[in-house]
Amino acid sequence: MPQKIVILDFGSQTTQLIGRRVRELNTYCEIVPYNKFPADDSDVIGVIVSGSPFSVYDQKAFRTELAPIADRYPVLGICYGAQMMAYQNGGTVESAPSREYGRAILAKVDPADALFAGINVGETVWMSHGDTITKLPADFSIIASTDDVPCAAFHVDGRKMWGVQFHPEVFHSTCGTQLLANFVNNICGSKADWSAESYIETTVTQLRRELGNDKVVLGLSGGVDSSVAAVLISRAIGDNLTCIFVDHGLLRKNEFSQVMDDYRCLGLNVIGVDASAEFFAALAGVSDPERKRKIIGKGFIDVFDREAHKLQGVRWLGQGTIYPDRIESLSITGTTIKSHHNVGGLPEKMNLRLCEPLKWLFKDEVRAVGRALGMPEHLISRHPFPGPGLAVRILGDITPEKVRILQDADDIFISGLREAGLYDQVWQAGVILLPVQSVGVMGDERTYESAVALRAVTSTDAMTADWAHLPYEFLAKVSNEIINKVRGVNRVTYDISSKPPATIEWE
Ligand code: XMP
Repeated sequence: MPQKIVILDFGSQTTQLIGRRVRELNTYCEIVPYNKFPADDSDVIGVIVSGSPFSVYDQKAFRTELAPIADRYPVLGICYGAQMMAYQNGGTVESAPSREYGRAILAKVDPADALFAGINVGETVWMSHGDTITKLPADFSIIASTDDVPCAAFHVDGRKMWGVQFHPEVFHSTCGTQLLANFVNNICGSKADWSAESYIETTVTQLRRELGNDKVVLGLSGGVDSSVAAVLISRAIGDNLTCIFVDHGLLRKNEFSQVMDDYRCLGLNVIGVDASAEFFAALAGVSDPERKRKIIGKGFIDVFDREAHKLQGVRWLGQGTIYPDRIESLSITGTTIKSHHNVGGLPEKMNLRLCEPLKWLFKDEVRAVGRALGMPEHLISRHPFPGPGLAVRILGDITPEKVRILQDADDIFISGLREAGLYDQVWQAGVILLPVQSVGVMGDERTYESAVALRAVTSTDAMTADWAHLPYEFLAKVSNEIINKVRGVNRVTYDISSKPPATIEWE
């Protein structure tokens, strides 16, 4: 296993970001709940203690005795992590007279301290805390201050223990990367050899060892995660992996055949199943969004299960689960998993063991692994697309004719984004078919046809999103083309809602 940094999660919103920053430094890391330090610590080279929504003196605060950990590894506490270190060693933490959020400037720095090597006075750091350390324990020394926060960072004399009151992991902390690199590389001694290539090598070896001659079945969706997982597993076990790609009839225009071609070019052993008639029959007359989702989720499991049972001797179910999917379910604050999980019941139903080779990777790392595996860029940089497909973009009941209208309009929008060089600037885009008809005029004819909404958002994780500020000229061109070419549509609108309070999809 590679060297790793353990990040103890005390529930901060930026814990995942700490993980990403460490990975960007080419060092492997794992985020674990604050009270679950890994039993097998042979590869651990250092520990970062995250922030928390609590105050150290709250009754409900999460607590872990840091001393035994700090006896064995270098430790960096961030915000709450730093306050907890001071508090557990006899320091005083109090509610700050004024809460400190946002930008602050380093006014004093100890350049001789290893954590601040190469970091100068005047750097911006990002604060986000209601508490502050007002008295440090005797053997703690201040190594950085801002004008308002005298103890912005400290070092425990003679020990490899540091605390920072600010958040080096957020982009706005201009010295954040340098500070984390000082900790991870110089203090913990990382070899910084974690990369997509090294991940592929280790994972393929592990998969071969774990799977041996066993057979694996995997459901492809056309999306990045399942595709990369499939290529990685097939690199390890070749045709002992069978992939199943179910067409529920609600994919984008020509998507099924295009993606099937891509998969074949990648050498995947893939079975394509056109189950659209079955899905349309099950969805007939259903308008409720949650019922549509349930019908499609169940339909998918049924078709997949049926096809998988035609295969002999399958022992494993491959899945493209990625780290953020799991962090939510591992979360110590108990956030529930999104109802978006399309095939949650599959492993139990099929009685198979799970093989999830991407479960430690963030989305951008999955893409990097895909590129390193030689997968085509258009597969790797595809926008996310919901599992229930166009069903959640047709408001009201679903008919093949409505799907045809939406596919045509969507195709014009998405091809237009690609041609205008805007595709990679938006996180996700699509068209929504509204249950609204309105009056229009085409030539000398009065029309009474459907309205569609274009939706394009910018985002980094789909948790929050803003509507993309696409150029008016571009929107005008797309609108014109849709109304002229898509029979059944006479009005195009653009959705200018952010998430929250709206969501990306309309259903
Ligand atoms: P919302 O609409 O909640 O969507 O802002 C956030 C992201 O999740 C996708 N999404 C889904 N993905 N099954 C999926 O696999 C679903 O039921 C589903 N609903 C939304 C959405 O496209 C966006 O990327």
